[in-house]
Amino acid sequence: MAEQNKQARAAWLEGPSGQCEVTPATSPDPWRLVLLGAPGVGKGTQADLLNQRLHACHLSTGDVLRAARSRNKGDQSPPMETALEYMRRGELVPDSTVWDMVRERSRCLHCGGGFILDGFPRTVSQAESLKRLMQNEGLSLTAVVNYEMSVSEIVARLGGRQTCETCKAVFHVTERPPSIAGCCDRCGGDLHRREDDQPEAIKVRLEHYERSTLPLIEFYKSLGLLVPIAATGSPEEICQRTLSALTMWRIQSSSIVAPSQTRT
Ligand code: AP5
Repeated sequence: MAEQNKQARAAWLEGPSGQCEVTPATSPDPWRLVLLGAPGVGKGTQADLLNQRLHACHLSTGDVLRAARSRNKGDQSPPMETALEYMRRGELVPDSTVWDMVRERSRCLHCGGGFILDGFPRTVSQAESLKRLMQNEGLSLTAVVNYEMSVSEIVARLGGRQTCETCKAVFHVTERPPSIAGCCDRCGGDLHRREDDQPEAIKVRLEHYERSTLPLIEFYKSLGLLVPIAATGSPEEICQRTLSALTMWRIQSSSIVAPSQTRT
């Protein structure tokens, strides 16, 4: 399934020119999720595990930006070059740039297997744009999962993170070490430390999270979509916790929301 997701993400990572080699099977009731939480709380790790269980595609805006960085300089548009500068410093990329990027990939939101948005939306303005787009296209979110953890644990997770340059799998030097140091267990690619995992950039990212992303929790709470999850324990434990909460959530919300209503 991980391989399937890797291929299925071509349309997301490369944009309109990308074609998924394997299209996820159409589900009668696809999960359409947003993952919220501070940088380093484990959203990417959980999105990967949830993808394996729910078969919904992992759509990360951070991965799209990092994929753009690995292209030749000449292939990067001026807004993308500017976006990469923001990212390097740990700052949020301007809403208009991120929104252009998501809008041109909106066919991924129609994927029959559903989706797991990781790192988007990140501001109330992005959330409002997503809400409008989904309403116009007759789609609705199933739930918004908010991962919660203390700042000290978050800093420890980011400080030890290693990411595969090829397949983007995520490891941690002590908590989730690869079998061979510096080498990805999944594809054999090289592991590296992200540029924005330097202490100064981590500080800036956490400040931006407090200022711009925390208000999203209230936004989604007011829409009745928020599912809070403690992000402590092993990745497997957190995934199980998420799946149980989402199952309960779906049962409860289907009994109180009429099928014709779209809440997104
Ligand atoms: P993005 O890539 O989205 O980064 P982020 O939100 O800062 O989140 P991270 O990827 O850093 O962390 P994560 O929560 O996914 O944690 P992970 O699973 O890796 O965005 C990067 C940048 O792009 C932004 O700063 C911004 O500049 C720009 N950007 C992206 N989207 C944008 C948007 N919408 N608007 C504007 N700008 C945008 O885990 C972290 C570590 O912990 C890993 O080492 C992992 O192995 C380990 N770990 C995970 N779970 C556990 C566990 N349970 N126990 C122990 N270790 C664990």
